[in-house]
Amino acid sequence: MKVCVFGAGYVGLVTAACLADMGNSVVCLDVDPARVAGLQQGHMPIHEPGLKELVQRNAVAGRLHFTVDAAMAVAHGTIVFIAVGTPSSEDGSADLGHVLAAAATIGQHMADYKVIVNKSTVPVGTAEKVHAGVASELRQRAAVLPFAVVSNPEFLKEGVAIDDFMRPDRVIIGANDEHATLMMRGLYAPFLRNRDRLLLMDLRSAELTKYVANAMLAARISFMNEMAALSEQVGADIEQVRVGIGSDPRIGTHFLYAGCGWGGSCLPKDVQALQRMGQDAGVDLPMLAALQTINDRQRQLLCQRVVQQFGESLSGHTIALWGLAFKPGTDDLREAPSLVIIDELLRRGARVQAFDPVAMPGLARHWPDRPGLHLAHHPLEAAAGASALLVVTEWREFRSPDFAALRAVMKTPLLLDGRNLYNPAMMKEMGFDYVGIGRAERSATLSHTPMTLQALAA
Ligand SMILES: NC(=O)c1ccc[n+]([C@@H]2O[C@H](COP(=O)([O-])OP(=O)(O)OC[C@H]3O[C@@H](n4cnc5c(N)ncnc54)[C@H](O)[C@@H]3O)[C@@H](O)[C@H]2O)c1
Repeated sequence: MKVCVFGAGYVGLVTAACLADMGNSVVCLDVDPARVAGLQQGHMPIHEPGLKELVQRNAVAGRLHFTVDAAMAVAHGTIVFIAVGTPSSEDGSADLGHVLAAAATIGQHMADYKVIVNKSTVPVGTAEKVHAGVASELRQRAAVLPFAVVSNPEFLKEGVAIDDFMRPDRVIIGANDEHATLMMRGLYAPFLRNRDRLLLMDLRSAELTKYVANAMLAARISFMNEMAALSEQVGADIEQVRVGIGSDPRIGTHFLYAGCGWGGSCLPKDVQALQRMGQDAGVDLPMLAALQTINDRQRQLLCQRVVQQFGESLSGHTIALWGLAFKPGTDDLREAPSLVIIDELLRRGARVQAFDPVAMPGLARHWPDRPGLHLAHHPLEAAAGASALLVVTEWREFRSPDFAALRAVMKTPLLLDGRNLYNPAMMKEMGFDYVGIGRAERSATLSHTPMTLQALAA
């Protein structure tokens, strides 16, 4: 099939490359000329395992092209995906500016039947808006052309995006047009050969499903973080509790890890947008507000512990950070807990030495020449002379480091494990003053004062 994809970001690029890999002819359009020029030369704008090889293979085979030429791209695709960003607006709602601009572009250039697919995460009712946007452009040039708008929210996870796209848990198609549905079935059939996981539903339900899925994931983590706070106070270990509850099939094992907060390009903005949808619809959604409040508290927890140890001013202290990306496997720093933590440490006068296997160039762009912030070439270099080490992202290479060497380079052996990677008893035995999240076995030197939701709101 002939496909056009608007947006060469995490979702658009993966979608374009995976569809091309199944033999489709794909043109991927982006408004960022530098991004397109880079892709034309085989340079990836993002870190996603396996993506470069996939893009190069399909580009060489002539099935995948990158362009800024909207007229050419729209003319090429019978199926046109919109996979552009939907960031938060000031009021928390999803900013549909890029999506509606893409819709207008399609309306300006289309000359035959199109199936327009909303893959961006968009609020309920956006398919109607896209339909209206395309129709308005057609009217302006007195063109009468058939088209359908379908919703096809994306559930890929950064870091394993290609595998997720190639072997999806489910493909959701929201549509009210039989022909468009049939075309979408055909497009996804190669990805669903061993079992049909295509779920057909109405447009609005498809749009809402994506937000509810992300809110549920955020809720699971925030709930575990809340229980972690309790766990610490009553002398339990949230890791043991996690295993205990996860073995119940009604609960399951995924997304139950207590930690130093959730972030990323999706969960924070989607929870906010869902809240906004509730407000607009006149529906009170108190759970959503609570899980955000818990997350704000959680993102401050590691800094709070540093302050408990060293006092309000951290001047004269070097604090090391392992991990910047919001999760392992990606260079995405959007809403990463590390940003909140670094900001707070620097505000208190600390020198921060950070290491991340892939996200450091992104941080250098985010905060060029930020005084007090130093990016290290190696985890041990980051820890050198540090009064405390904060483990913020659970990259594999942090799971089993050379602890003796680590202990030796640190000024004081305070290890604040924001992802519960290590065994508290083992860490103690190796001479670390270890504090995990919600774990019973913890350092005697830190007195933990739980931060109440009221205190946080004050
Ligand atoms: N990143 C994820 O893990 C993920 C997962 C599922 C869903 N989503 C959703 O998918 C959408 C895209 O997310 P992303 O992370 O890929 O965003 P991104 O910021 O990585 O990429 C968006 C791209 O769209 C381009 N763009 C903007 N306006 C355009 C236009 N009019 N025409 C062509 N290109 C345009 C930008 O230049 C950019 O390259 C969002 O709605 C997001 O919520 C993201």
